[in-house]
Amino acid sequence: MPLDQALLSFSRLSLARNGHSVLDRVSFELGRGETLGMVGESGAGKSTIALVAIGLLRPPAVSLEGSMAFAGRDDLLAEPEATWAGLRGRHIGMIFQDPASALDPCYTVGRQLTDPLRRLLGLTRAAARKRAIELLESAGLNDAEARLAAFPHELSGGMQQRVMIAIALACNPDLLLADEPTSALDVTIQAQIMQLILRQVRARDASCIFVLHDLALASQVCDRIVVLYAGQVVEAGDTGTVLRRSLHPYTQALKSCVIELDTETLTPPEGGLPALGAMPAGCRFAPRCPRATAKCTTSTPPLRRLDERDVACWHPG
Ligand SMILES: Nc1ncnc2c1ncn2[C@@H]1O[C@H](COP(=O)(O)OP(=O)(O)OP(=O)(O)O)[C@@H](O)[C@H]1O
Ligand code: SF4
Ligand SMILES: [Mg+2]
Repeated sequence: MPLDQALLSFSRLSLARNGHSVLDRVSFELGRGETLGMVGESGAGKSTIALVAIGLLRPPAVSLEGSMAFAGRDDLLAEPEATWAGLRGRHIGMIFQDPASALDPCYTVGRQLTDPLRRLLGLTRAAARKRAIELLESAGLNDAEARLAAFPHELSGGMQQRVMIAIALACNPDLLLADEPTSALDVTIQAQIMQLILRQVRARDASCIFVLHDLALASQVCDRIVVLYAGQVVEAGDTGTVLRRSLHPYTQALKSCVIELDTETLTPPEGGLPALGAMPAGCRFAPRCPRATAKCTTSTPPLRRLDERDVACWHPG
């Protein structure tokens, strides 16, 4: 359902690297306080969207078209770096997939937590330190005060991810981007970290985009789902609608793989994504689609509203 008051909306976002299309007319919305799951196999463009949403992937490194509206601002993609610097960390936070490479190895945990608190919120040194301890405690790190003096390499992967969560949420952002936040962690703590993120997001009434490979988890924790294929949104809408009555053959294939293999991990249907420089004409899923017709191979299906969700397919159902 189109939102009256979306916090974030992408409209026909296209991104190309070295002349190759990576994202093609991506459109979706996220409301305040909502959680959105972005799913699709490796290379679909999920991280690329997250990096655009936090202003870390911008021209001239890539070419961008379309628009991104956020918290009342209409066209952020056209804004200068100074605008993004005011949003990043303060209004939009991000948890990266691999905490070991996202944390700065040269600075202590305390420095990496107190810097944004002082710079973005204007806290004094003492107040930032006090807040940093509270943040680490609420992220489940015991002995939080002592951890301030630790360097990232002195912590386990799970502890590093807890630090990243504390940093990403330090300034109470309106939007949190969580790019596969548990996939680099031991399976035994994945559920704990996921619960921690959800608790913290809900406590702040923030919105969150989760990049997930786990369709079952997405169905449990996300209000909305966006299914991506080869840089295009193929189906998007309320989680119940999209997963219970999927209309796109790719969404259906993802679901049937989950059921057939009796696993919760998202397994792509047979075949692979087309290479960046060799996208098929027409529907990008046509080479793998059991329902493809001649029209599908020559004409790109537009994303259109159908049965309470957006779907891009000439033969939905
Ligand atoms: N730095 C880069 N330079 C060139 N191409 C890139 C770069 N980063 C990503 N790509 C390409 O852009 C496309 C989208 O990549 P992206 O990382 O967004 O996918 P993803 O859906 O996040 O995949 P994964 O699930 O593996 O993380 C892929 O074809 C990828 O090869
Ligand atoms: S447009 Fe055609 S090829 Fe593409 S998903 Fe729909 S039926 Fe399959
Ligand atoms: Mg990724």
